[in-house]
Amino acid sequence: MNVLVTGGAGFLGSYIVAALASSGHEAFAYDIAPPGPDALNVAPALASRIRIGQIGDLARLFDVCASERIETIVHSAGIVGLETSLQQPLATYQTNVMGMVNVCEVARQTRMRRVVFMSSNAAYHKGPNDRLYETDPAFSPSNGNPAGHYGTSKMASEAIGLAYASFQDLDFLSLRITAIYGFGMRSPMYIKPMVENAVLGWPTRFETGGPMKRDYTHVLDCGEAVVAALGAPRWTAGEQRVLNIAAGQARTASEVAQAVRNVLPGADIEIGDRLTPLEEENVKMRAPLDIGAAKRLLNWSPKWSLEAGIAEYAESFRRSLSQS
Ligand SMILES: NC(=O)c1ccc[n+]([C@@H]2O[C@H](COP(=O)([O-])OP(=O)(O)OC[C@H]3O[C@@H](n4cnc5c(N)ncnc54)[C@H](O)[C@@H]3O)[C@@H](O)[C@H]2O)c1
Repeated sequence: MNVLVTGGAGFLGSYIVAALASSGHEAFAYDIAPPGPDALNVAPALASRIRIGQIGDLARLFDVCASERIETIVHSAGIVGLETSLQQPLATYQTNVMGMVNVCEVARQTRMRRVVFMSSNAAYHKGPNDRLYETDPAFSPSNGNPAGHYGTSKMASEAIGLAYASFQDLDFLSLRITAIYGFGMRSPMYIKPMVENAVLGWPTRFETGGPMKRDYTHVLDCGEAVVAALGAPRWTAGEQRVLNIAAGQARTASEVAQAVRNVLPGADIEIGDRLTPLEEENVKMRAPLDIGAAKRLLNWSPKWSLEAGIAEYAESFRRSLSQS
């Protein structure tokens, strides 16, 4: 199948391109920026498969889809993260929300097979349980989303995709992913400096952050989830279209530090046991994600334990150093 991966030159996008290529799909990337060395390392095919374009440029998106005979879009482009979204609310909504509308419009008008949206745990509001279920509230009548404009843009994008699915027969699936880690990651989430400094033999010091928890998910598991989402039969009306993709277990940054020490003996990591005010707010919605629906509907489960994932990350990082 010919697949366009928006944001395909990014961290996750490059792994999606690689996973699709190795499962027999013809993957193209659509991105505002060309792939950097890490993305090319992950997916060498990007060198010839990148199509530069703004997600806001509807005409360009139509052109690329027509010239590459695109049948499905995996929508991974976006402005990512709570802090960035608080600095740039307008750009976050224009890129993330209007980007979603443009992707759905192109898919609808050209009768594509499916749109798979890379959503986020940030779409959730504070869940009532110790685990996040897809049926938990994504909206509160009294408080803003704990992940700021970023989370709000993800929640709104899902609602847009669902409206296209319900009223215009668009086969839309949303994968709520969370804390993706592995070689090439951009957002540090504590784990990046811990692993990379350990490989380099450097110390890592954080004054705060020890209790910050995340459901850390290895990027290769995420790529496999996208392949499963493309391979699944057409969704029927009324069927659940939003699926959690995660390891299913939340780990604190202190626990991650211990896992890195276990995998990479000699790792010199110290982390304080307080949270920043922003983390105090954000940690409240950092419960593990329930992954029962993804298993049932996509036959997908994560394969990488945190320790095995850290070892893979360290090995890929080491290999990239030896090549540079
Ligand atoms: N990394 C994570 O932990 C994580 C967790 C949950 C959800 N996600 C979602 O996964 C997706 C990919 O995240 P990532 O970590 O790979 O981030 P990333 O920043 O590495 O990738 C995003 C890509 O989108 C591109 N992009 C940004 N604005 C664009 C525009 N206007 N037009 C075209 N392309 C544009 C960027 O150039 C970049 O290559 C995002 O939608 C993000 O919200 C990521």
